[in-house]
Amino acid sequence: MAKLITVFGATGAQGGSVANALLEDQDFKVRAVTRNASSDKAKALQGRGAEIVQASLDDPSTLGPALQGAHGVFVVTNYWEHMDQEREIKQGKDIADAAKAAGVLHVVFSGLENVEKIAGFPCPHFDAKGQIEEYMTSLELPVTFVRFSFYYENYISMMKPQKQEDGTYVLGVPMEGAAMDIVSAGDMGPAVRTIFRNWARWIRRAVGFSGDKLTIQQTADILSKHLAPKVFKASDMTADEFGQLGFPGADDLGNMFKFYRLHNPDRSVELTRQLHPTAMTFDTWAAENKEALQNALD
Ligand SMILES: NC(=O)c1ccc[n+]([C@@H]2O[C@H](COP(=O)([O-])OP(=O)(O)OC[C@H]3O[C@@H](n4cnc5c(N)ncnc54)[C@H](OP(=O)(O)O)[C@@H]3O)[C@@H](O)[C@H]2O)c1
Repeated sequence: MAKLITVFGATGAQGGSVANALLEDQDFKVRAVTRNASSDKAKALQGRGAEIVQASLDDPSTLGPALQGAHGVFVVTNYWEHMDQEREIKQGKDIADAAKAAGVLHVVFSGLENVEKIAGFPCPHFDAKGQIEEYMTSLELPVTFVRFSFYYENYISMMKPQKQEDGTYVLGVPMEGAAMDIVSAGDMGPAVRTIFRNWARWIRRAVGFSGDKLTIQQTADILSKHLAPKVFKASDMTADEFGQLGFPGADDLGNMFKFYRLHNPDRSVELTRQLHPTAMTFDTWAAENKEALQNALD
């Protein structure tokens, strides 16, 4: 019998990819959670066979019904919608409690490291997820943590290359020459599906998703190849300088880049490809998303 998986964030990047991958597979049924069941994205999911449930991580009374009868649940919390660490932690603890109460057999949580604890400097959007991981572990939930790297998709949204006076474009990711793991968020659904399929094997383990590990100049060179004659270069900004740029969340992101450089957290291209053999490299993704990359540029 097909296993029912409740998918939080199904209208977004991570959860959308998970829902899509599960919907393609007859061994699974998808219950997609959204706060707005009448949105176009929710209707599109319904049209493809998902059950739509209206619920919110901010309203614990809605979580039990969203999990009722589910074999598994994919959980992603969205720090950037509110940028409130305590609120994200509460969301994570509430869904953990609800999963425990509902007797869900497998929780896949999109977590990240507790940077404050590991590195000694704060990184609220990581730290919140780290604290949720710790809480889920303390509850002895049957959980797998999946930790996404910096998305390829950020290069067409919040980290799009910035045009310089000389006409070149700069990638403002301050890695100070170090390589960074990156991944397509929209491409990881099949990897999560493999984890749900072999659920007993993945309980109490963490997987760091990575499609590629590149320096920012290597990333820029790939963009220059696909978007020629435009030329892309790595920024020479430091993570600390980035943290002082002054926009909301700059310090949080600056410390994230510093954490990546100094602590090289466990993300694995090899393991990601074991779970999803055709996981895209940045080169493949850039070729497939040339138009979107082009349209994002000034
Ligand atoms: N950008 C990166 O490089 C990166 C890398 C690693 C991790 N992350 C993490 O990824 C998370 C964001 O995930 P994403 O990129 O998939 O976000 P996204 O594309 O912006 O989608 C957010 C999803 O979360 C759902 N959602 C938000 N608040 C909710 C609530 N209170 N209850 C139920 N659902 C809620 C939304 O559903 P509705 O609006 O339909 O309700 C939507 O489906 C962030 O916490 C970020 O730290 C990002």
